[in-house]
Amino acid sequence: MSWKFSVSHSLPLFLLLFLYSFPLISTQQNDDPTFKTMHDFSGYPVDKSSYTFTPSNSSSLSVDIQALQKQIDELSTFSDTPAPSVTRILYTENDVLARRYVKNLMGLTGLSVTEDVVGNIFGRWDGYEPELTAVATGSHIDAIPYSGKYDGVVGVLGAIEAINALKRSGFKPKRSLEIILFTSEEPTRFGIGCLGSRLLAGGEALAEALKTTVDGQNISFLEAARSAGYARDEDDLSSVFLKNDSYSAFVELHIEQAPILEEEGISIGVVTNIAAPASIKVDFEGNGGHAGGVLMPDRNDAGLAAAELMLAIEKHVTESGSLDTVGTVGILELYPGAINSIPSKAHLEIDVRDIEESFRNAVINKIHKAAKSIAKKRKVTLSEFKIINQDPLAHSNGSLIKAVVDASDELNLTYKYMISRAYHDSLFMARISPMGMIFIPCYKGYSHKPEEYASPQDIENGVKVLALTLAKLSLR
Ligand code: GLV
Ligand code: MN
Ligand code: MN
Repeated sequence: MSWKFSVSHSLPLFLLLFLYSFPLISTQQNDDPTFKTMHDFSGYPVDKSSYTFTPSNSSSLSVDIQALQKQIDELSTFSDTPAPSVTRILYTENDVLARRYVKNLMGLTGLSVTEDVVGNIFGRWDGYEPELTAVATGSHIDAIPYSGKYDGVVGVLGAIEAINALKRSGFKPKRSLEIILFTSEEPTRFGIGCLGSRLLAGGEALAEALKTTVDGQNISFLEAARSAGYARDEDDLSSVFLKNDSYSAFVELHIEQAPILEEEGISIGVVTNIAAPASIKVDFEGNGGHAGGVLMPDRNDAGLAAAELMLAIEKHVTESGSLDTVGTVGILELYPGAINSIPSKAHLEIDVRDIEESFRNAVINKIHKAAKSIAKKRKVTLSEFKIINQDPLAHSNGSLIKAVVDASDELNLTYKYMISRAYHDSLFMARISPMGMIFIPCYKGYSHKPEEYASPQDIENGVKVLALTLAKLSLR
């Protein structure tokens, strides 16, 4: 067992000590005149000695899970592939229709809806002190090819239902509550994950690069954005950047995308860190030629170079010294793509992650060395080795972790501290706001495939925890 592995397992103890150093929320609220509002909303009897909620009247926070499930099902029909799979790619017709569906729901909930030039959508419920920085939540609705209907969607539609539940309970927020639908969390179309949240967090290099970025069909980012009704008159995307203090907190609800909560029978995952992702594009080029005419010793096959690199990646990832290092070649394209033609070009896209940047970075360096030596040995050219993103990990904020834990406790739900190995828009929101994440179990941990599933009960639990957490944060 590696050193890193044991550190990640000792985290809960560390966290408990860390959290213990924070004043209790209840103590902070003791002299707060708005506390009564919180109590009114909760419907729970006030324990004057501690001023915490007690879950004796959970009916005050009722989630309409039938309505929410129906919305999740309806949204999944905006897909380029048949059910049960969902494929919803940035700025396509189905993406635009799905966005319209969500904006309509936000409107029905009484939120004021705005959009920025890349299509990040904001739905705001004004607090009674609207000049205070808002508390935000949200996620994404784009879906990679042949994926499921819960990834991201639970954090958007679930957030709208959380606000509905708060409204029904009579709760009035002090800080405004804002739901964000982030543009293109998935890297499918333009090769960069968390495009919308990266820009919100001040991604200057990305804003510049997007002026010349094209998709696989050679359609430019700006042309695609315009076809969806965004970036109408501007190439400068810097208007998307948010100031560092735009939000007092950001909390994202998401399915776990791993099997731990389900296996352990735990309702809520309280995310402590989000692993550090990176992606790389590689091209090998050879001479190609006739599959019958060119003898084996005379070939320089770009496809075989790619195959050898894929095996080298597996070796370097598994030998990194950390169980948490993962590497995937999810895209492999051979040109010209004919059975009787030796590949003259091979294109690979590689995803490497770890909860420790140093392990991940060491693997990236080894992959680069391997690509160079394979190219030399096979007499092909390594025409591209481009690191698209190499992001640091993100830490959840201690007081947001505590708010999620308190909400879970007050709702009598079991919880567990956990690391997110998948990335989320929260990774980038953490750059401009205190960040926290709420995970719910999903069937066998399946995600990014049509079998993805979260039960209505687990979704309801997650929405309740989100609602209560937002309520607490709104009153601070
Ligand atoms: C998000 O979809 C990820 O790839 O982690
Ligand atoms: Mn995803
Ligand atoms: Mn997601």
